[in-house]
Amino acid sequence: MTTKTEAAAALAGDTDGKAEDTLRITDSRTGETYEIPIVDGAIRSLDLRQIKTSEDDFGLLAYDPAFMNTASCRSAITYLDGDLGVLEYRGYPIEQLAEHSTYLEVAYLLVHGELPTAAELATWTHEIKTHTFVHENVKSFIQGFRHDAHPMGMLLGSIGALSTFYPDANQIHDPANRAIQTIRLIAKMPTLAAFSYRHNMGQPYVYPDNDLEYAGNFLGMLYKMTELKYQPDPRLAKALDVLFILHADHEQNCSTSAVRAIGSSGVDPYSAIAGGIAALYGPSHGGANEEVVRMLLRIGSKENIPDFIAGVKAGRERLMGFGHRVYKNYDPRARIIKKACDDVFEVTGVNPLLDIATELEKIALGEEYFVSRSLYPNVDFYSGLIYQALGMPMAMFPVMFAIGRTSGWIAQWLEMVQDSEQKIARPRQIYTGERNRDYVPLAERG
Ligand code: ACO
Repeated sequence: MTTKTEAAAALAGDTDGKAEDTLRITDSRTGETYEIPIVDGAIRSLDLRQIKTSEDDFGLLAYDPAFMNTASCRSAITYLDGDLGVLEYRGYPIEQLAEHSTYLEVAYLLVHGELPTAAELATWTHEIKTHTFVHENVKSFIQGFRHDAHPMGMLLGSIGALSTFYPDANQIHDPANRAIQTIRLIAKMPTLAAFSYRHNMGQPYVYPDNDLEYAGNFLGMLYKMTELKYQPDPRLAKALDVLFILHADHEQNCSTSAVRAIGSSGVDPYSAIAGGIAALYGPSHGGANEEVVRMLLRIGSKENIPDFIAGVKAGRERLMGFGHRVYKNYDPRARIIKKACDDVFEVTGVNPLLDIATELEKIALGEEYFVSRSLYPNVDFYSGLIYQALGMPMAMFPVMFAIGRTSGWIAQWLEMVQDSEQKIARPRQIYTGERNRDYVPLAERG
């Protein structure tokens, strides 16, 4: 019998060489038994490598397409319990942060690990406000996009291009350098997002107004026309700020995993976060809020809901904004967004799609198909209705998600860069293709 080695114990973080809990595995191919340490409810996949059928066997792999059951890092940023519907940033419940905090304070919390003191918050806010401008050349290349380019595509391209404006950002092991890129990314993301919007509208780009708060300044860059000073409605600015808080982080989701994987190569954070934006662009992730509104428009009226639900149950389509890889309960962010809807609609008037959405949610939650699969509304089910009420076209919805998620991507990137256990991300594969074929000249191929 092969028992746990000291090396395996050290890997598992056991200083005295004894793991509290172990997994005993018997390999039916060889009859060998192995003791694999269990730490924090996990085994190390590398511990499986010792399980071999012969000396020259590579060793057992863990096969996990889409990383359904693989922890890729240790993280102290976001806690999520999908069964109970719990979400905490650095230990603080999302409900309390949404009610009492601001997006910039939450960004500080995610990045630094603690809530700031009043002085720390003032400095952080000042730094972010004074880095909101982008180089004039950035304007020129955004102008180079087609008039109808998707704003998410423009955001993705322009954030990636920022790395060429800050070539020193590749000094990722210098803490002072990381700190300034962190500020720049949070500060400039809304500016680039708003420029993309104005480009689609054929309107002149609006420079940031550093007298305004983060969300209010963003609204100004979207909507300011001839007025000397744009004054955002405080209720709309607050609702937008809450949406940024709700989207700020969500542990190892698709786009964050992309940021970490790309960043693990040692590339600068602008390039890594451009990869995060690309991942968020997809309809199964940040593009879902856009798809929800398209779906509601297609349903058109409450009377058509039963037909639509029948189509979903028959597998002809999905109920967008429902379901989540991790939440098997009501997404706590969806609850808070429903409240933000009321605040926004008080100012803008009710979005007529709200009635259809509310009825759709009610009917779906009473249907066995959704209940048995634990499909509940996720953060995207109602957020699109708010963005639409704020006057944004659907193509801007994933862009809004990206602005909020920027602080989370950076916090996760910072954690990854400083984690001594991390290396370049490089999964294994199970090869299923041909082997040892001889090249056939073109003339001889059938
Ligand atoms: N509508 C109808 N059926 C659904 C839905 C849905 N929205 N989501 C899942 N299901 C069904 C699947 O068909 C499957 O049924 P089956 O067991 O009979 O085959 C079962 O529920 C499990 O679904 P999976 O696709 O295996 O779940 P997974 O964890 O892979 O997918 C996802 C999660 C992508 C979010 C999915 O629920 C979905 O497509 N939802 C709609 C898109 C959406 O709202 N995305 C936003 C996610 S939140 C975010 O990114 C911020």
